[in-house]
Amino acid sequence: MIFNIVTLFPGFLREPLEMSVLGRASRAGTVEWRLVDPRDFTQDRHRTADDEPFGGGSGMVMKAGPVWRAVESLPERGRVVSLTPRGRPFDHEAAVRLSLEPVVTLLCGRYKGIDERVTESMVNEELSIGDYVLSGGEPAALVVADAVVRLLPGALGDHDSAATDSFYDGGLSAPAYTRPREFQSLEVPEVLTSGHHSAVARWRARESDRATRNRRPDLLDLNAAD
Ligand code: ADE
Repeated sequence: MIFNIVTLFPGFLREPLEMSVLGRASRAGTVEWRLVDPRDFTQDRHRTADDEPFGGGSGMVMKAGPVWRAVESLPERGRVVSLTPRGRPFDHEAAVRLSLEPVVTLLCGRYKGIDERVTESMVNEELSIGDYVLSGGEPAALVVADAVVRLLPGALGDHDSAATDSFYDGGLSAPAYTRPREFQSLEVPEVLTSGHHSAVARWRARESDRATRNRRPDLLDLNAAD
């Protein structure tokens, strides 16, 4: 899978994309990151990538031209996704959908966003990672990239599996414990050290259910509607 990421701050993303699961996936050839900076597509002496909003108001808007030319420069753009608080909420279902695309282009808006004419002509969908405003789309692009890549076949090692993650089956996952068995006089639930696989599976199903009911009853309503 190819991820093009259009950002005025490639340095913000470079290191996180080469670490942990994302870095391993890139070194294994499961995913390829291509960072593109609209500033390299400016045409004035000052390399201006943003400007004041028409109609007045505070903040700056990313100019259409540099973003447009940055996207046009891509050999393949695939599905073009703009990260913005105005987008539809990003969730597990959206991650699965994007993981099936061979090429995804993420546009990271800054300041007051990207000139709407780029969005109208080039963007297939707008996604938000939550109801709060970030200084730019870069952290959101990392969130989307991480959630998508961990779903790609071979991206996770034997030790972790996306199939036991929260949301995979529509609910939250059961709590997890590791060694030591006793920590500050707190014990691990006995069933987990019993070696009894079906009992462990039943315990996890029960705990998963309980966590979902207590913490996210909205997810149960969603599943019931399926
Ligand atoms: N850019 C700024 N805030 C954002 C958010 N909540 N989600 C996605 N992109 C953003």
